[in-house]
This record gives sequence, structure tokens and C-alpha cells, in this order.
Amino acid sequence: MTGPDAPDLAVLHPRLPSPAQEVNDDRLTRRGVRLLLKRDDLIHPDLIGNKWRKLAPHLTAAAGRPILTFGGAYSNHLRATAAAGRLLGLTTIGVVRGQELSDRPLNPSLARCAADGMRLHFVDRSTYRHKTDPETLAAVLRAVGAEDAYVVPEGGSSPLAVRGCRALGEELHGRADVVALACGTGGTLAGLAAGLAPGRRALGFPVLKGGFLTADIRSLQEAAFGGPRGDWQLDDRFHFGGYARTTPELHSFADDFESRHGLPVERLYVAKMLYGLIALAQEGAFPRGTTLAAVITGRPFP
Ligand SMILES: Cc1ncc(COP(=O)(O)O)c(C=O)c1O
Repeated sequence: MTGPDAPDLAVLHPRLPSPAQEVNDDRLTRRGVRLLLKRDDLIHPDLIGNKWRKLAPHLTAAAGRPILTFGGAYSNHLRATAAAGRLLGLTTIGVVRGQELSDRPLNPSLARCAADGMRLHFVDRSTYRHKTDPETLAAVLRAVGAEDAYVVPEGGSSPLAVRGCRALGEELHGRADVVALACGTGGTLAGLAAGLAPGRRALGFPVLKGGFLTADIRSLQEAAFGGPRGDWQLDDRFHFGGYARTTPELHSFADDFESRHGLPVERLYVAKMLYGLIALAQEGAFPRGTTLAAVITGRPFP
């Protein structure tokens, strides 16, 4: 789908396949289980982890048109899109949830987006909720004067992005039996599972409360591949109160993981997945001889 004006993403020198590093964690070795850290956080300094995997196909498909996308006030996806715009010379527009934010100083995440050249457009929560309705979307595009924009859905999870995430599973062929991943929209898991070799499985840890993600992942796979793909399951117990919520217990687990393994642990997604994975191993969920891969999808934002 490379059009005449599609940016050449090779100029960004992504580190692909991302490294898979084995670490020695006595909580696992004691049970005969190996752990690999699949360092998607090292793919690119600004397009980190699943952001690269999900955004790259959109950047190509946009073929130089302005890119408009959506996110909350601390969205990793908005920051990654803004950085891609700066690096590739593309116009980017971020539609931000929360009209009330428009007359407050920008928080550090939105300030980074603005510094990268992203135009920010704040909308009220009802408009934000209805952003995929054709009429609402058309009104937003008109309001920002970007009717020709290429629209990337919230979190980047479109069928194109889901297909882009298949490579994550493919890179782990012959390396891991079970692949653990934190889930927001479930787009990355939908693609990862499709790329795994037969007999391997993906284990998702939703960071949102609600238990709706199984249905969402099924529909993402239906839209991306025409039906279910791969072996995957979710464990809903490790959301720590829901999206963007953390607890002192989660922080002390993450601090300890950082000092054991020298890995900066992002708290809103990655820490919850690692906590869940270690807890499952301690429950005896993995037979001796299992190799686990934990996908490091992000890095802490200062
Ligand atoms: C660091 C990190 N990990 C995991 C995810 C979950 O990705 P998905 O929305 O595809 O489930 C996100 C969300 O974008 C994220 O920012």
C-alpha cells in the first residue's frame, strides 16, 4: 500500500525484530519456568513498543496526508503519533477527550505532543464518545479544517494495525510457549495471537475493569482476518482498580522488578502484566519447562 507520498519508515531505523532477553527470576526458576523479556520498548526511542507496530502501517497508508487521531490527556498513542509527525514531517492533529482541559495549562504529556507540532483539539466527553459516528467525525474534521485527514482510531487499533501486530507473534516462533501482554483495546493481542505458531498461546492482562475485552478482541480479529485466529485468553484479575489506577503494592512490585532486572517498568500497563504473570507462575499455572515471553510494550513517561 506504499503510495507515491508514503514516508519511508526505514529512515527511522526501527530495531526489528525487537530483542528477546532472558532474565533469571528466582520466583520462576524455582518452578522450572524460563522468562524472556520481549523488548518492544527498544524498537524506537519515540515510537515505543506496540505504538510502532500499530502506527507504522497507518503512517504508510496515510501517504503524506495529515493524520488525525484521538486520545485522553495522558495518551501514549497521542504522544507517539505526534513524534511520528515530527520525525517524518507529517501534519498531526490530536482530538483530546475533555473540553475542560482547553483552558488549563497543558499537562506534560500534551505539552510533549504540542512541542512535537501536534495541533490539539479538545472535545467534550459526549462528542468524544460518539467520535466514530460518521456525522460526529465529519463535524470534528470540519471544526479542525482537516476534511482530507487520514483518521487513525483511538489507540491505533484498526484492522490494519491488528495485522501489523502479527509480526510480534511471528518474531517469537521457536522462542516462547506462552506470551504475556498488557491489554487496553486488545488490538495488539488480537494481532499477536494471529502471528503465533500452532500450540503457542497468548495471555492478555486487561488494564481496564469490565470484562468486555473478550468480545472486543473477537471483533478485532473478525475485522482484521475474517475470523478467530490463534490461541489466546485473558486474565481479568490484575487491573489494580482500572485504567490509570495503581496501588502501593503494584509500585513496590515494579520497583523490585526494576532492581532485580534493570528494566524500567511502565506502571499503567507493563507492571500489571508482569505482576499477573509472576502471580500465575506462583499459582502453578505453568508446567515445568515452560518458556514465557513478557512483551514490554512501553517505557515509563517521565
Ligand atoms: C504501554 C502500553 N502497553 C499496552 C497497551 C495496550 O495496547 P492495546 O490497546 O492494543 O491493547 C498500550 C495501549 O496502547 C500501551 O500504551
